[in-house]
Amino acid sequence: MTDTLRLRRPDDWHVHLRDGAMLAAVADATARQFARAIVMPNLKPPVTTVAAAAAYRDRIRAAVSPGLNFEPLMTCYLVDGIDPDELVRGHGEGVFTAAKLYPAHATTNSAHGVTDVRHIHAALEAMQRIGMPLLIHGEVTDHTVDVFDREAAFIDRVLNGVVRDFPELRIVFEHITTKDAVDFVAEAGPNIAATITPHHLAINRNAMFDGGMRPHFYCLPVAKRELHRLALRAAATSGNPKFFLGTDSAPHGIEAKESDCGCAGIYNAPFAIESYARTFEEEGALDRLEGFASEYGPAFYRLPLNADVITLERVPTPVPARLAAAGTEIVPFHAGETLAWRFLG
Ligand code: NCD
Ligand code: ZN
Repeated sequence: MTDTLRLRRPDDWHVHLRDGAMLAAVADATARQFARAIVMPNLKPPVTTVAAAAAYRDRIRAAVSPGLNFEPLMTCYLVDGIDPDELVRGHGEGVFTAAKLYPAHATTNSAHGVTDVRHIHAALEAMQRIGMPLLIHGEVTDHTVDVFDREAAFIDRVLNGVVRDFPELRIVFEHITTKDAVDFVAEAGPNIAATITPHHLAINRNAMFDGGMRPHFYCLPVAKRELHRLALRAAATSGNPKFFLGTDSAPHGIEAKESDCGCAGIYNAPFAIESYARTFEEEGALDRLEGFASEYGPAFYRLPLNADVITLERVPTPVPARLAAAGTEIVPFHAGETLAWRFLG
């Protein structure tokens, strides 16, 4: 049995680093494992300008401990009627790596999101022209659609139209949770890819109701049926470069999760690569982890591969029940479990 795993250093192609005290508390967890990360712009207020993204990037760099080599890759939060010139300028200046489409009210801090993709057509046209990736939170917000069906409905009602109208647009379907999304991406052109989180590989929707309400397993898009989890595991471990790592690590203080209206989001950054390693080992695919974690993402984003290497060792690794952060505590993903792999650096 392999006892040491060496991988080209991975990148996280979808993370929430927050701001202020929470940023200070969580930045190193991501920066320890990952060389680069696509940083989500759903702050309050959202990051919608080049100036705001550049300032946020400076705050992230300042929050990461000296000695950790970490490059935050910034995204622009798309709003109705956003000026395409701002996107083009931000991309040209190397501030905006990509832009993020949140359907309005689909998830945490998405109140300013897009109410109809027609309202960002000019932006999508410009992004298609300059090759700037569009990152999509793919859920409809129609309250007559069951929450477990919202990703599949988004493919039918929105995504098919975007792909038809902008056939060359480079799209990442973020944190996919369904077999429908796996099939859509697998059958689409090479300009369409997807990220997959550690938690959607590990849990199905039963985790939220295991003996009682389990708010720490609640995220958006919500975990689905077992058949979907199995499709995600097959996609992630297939060696198909359209599927790559994106943790969607989304920290919320314990009081915001254990509440009568608990926030969506799972904080997995501290043990992210260990969690993926567990899934890949269970699937007999440890040899495919490096492609998924460290190679397919840079290829899609047209960025160089990282040169350095990380090491994981087979050592029982207990995950704490809680982690102190920003004057409160966060319950991390895998809290109280023991993982088989430990990230050494
Ligand atoms: C994210 C957050 O908390 O910002 N929550 C989540 O459940 N994933 C928002 C998001 O990515 O949908
Ligand atoms: Zn997210």
